[in-house]
Amino acid sequence: MSSAVEVRPAAGASALAAARTPTTRRYLMCAPKFFTVEYAINPWMDPSEPVSTERALEQWGELKRTYESLGHVVEEIEPQPGLPDMVFAANSGTVVHGRVLGARFRAAERAGEAEFYRRWFLEHGYRDVVMPSNINEAEGDFAWSGRVLLAGTGFRTDPGAHAEAQEILGVPVVSLKLVDPRYYHLDTALTVLDDSRDNPLVTYYPDAFSPGSQRVLELLFPDAVLATEADAACLGLNGVSDGYNVVLPTEATALGTALEARGFRAHYVDISELRKSGGGPKCCTMELRA
Ligand code: ARG
Repeated sequence: MSSAVEVRPAAGASALAAARTPTTRRYLMCAPKFFTVEYAINPWMDPSEPVSTERALEQWGELKRTYESLGHVVEEIEPQPGLPDMVFAANSGTVVHGRVLGARFRAAERAGEAEFYRRWFLEHGYRDVVMPSNINEAEGDFAWSGRVLLAGTGFRTDPGAHAEAQEILGVPVVSLKLVDPRYYHLDTALTVLDDSRDNPLVTYYPDAFSPGSQRVLELLFPDAVLATEADAACLGLNGVSDGYNVVLPTEATALGTALEARGFRAHYVDISELRKSGGGPKCCTMELRA
């Protein structure tokens, strides 16, 4: 046994940060002008609890300004009366390599949103826009991770939408089963932190997934940051990352600290009003991937 001990400085956050590279993103958002909670389609929604549309608008504005201050481009789609959940732009399209797969909602209350987004894509130069035949709540359940599209099912998106997404988007799809009704969409249980081809990284809350899906995630992402129940319970996994900066709900400080120890930078936004509908930063943000 050698007695020589190699002394190296501890790999602190700043040393690791050098490896994290932010890339400029394009997002599509929809102001919560008509936001209310008047029906309940997930366990977070309680129509008897008061909701302030004005506060939701302020919080949404702060989220948008946060993205812009990080150098990202934010496009907006016009909100529509009678569609209070239209603010959750992530649910209305999955855009990978410039191809668009539209949405088909499970709940009748949200069905009308899909067509407004389809038109937005056509009016903004997208030529490859396909509407799905299976129920598909877009980035609520689809997360691009650099080489594969992670796809949730169990509560909203039909498993058949996964094969459909693979065929239409032309990317490999990995199905994951969600088992906890509080984490009804994949983006409430998992955040892609780094979607670079060679260094993909995610954070997720293991208990939100079936045992088989937990093993799949371990195989795909052996270095993943494992989130706790407390991280998940404030919708902390509904974050948005550009590869370095991660936008998180204010309460998700434990997760933010864990991410900073891995070289990321956490930015906190108050989403308390939007959370009354079961949404956070990611739900409000569709990524337009060229
Ligand atoms: N109230 C909305 C619903 O239940 C919230 C959607 C949140 N969006 C998301 N990407 N998780 O459909």
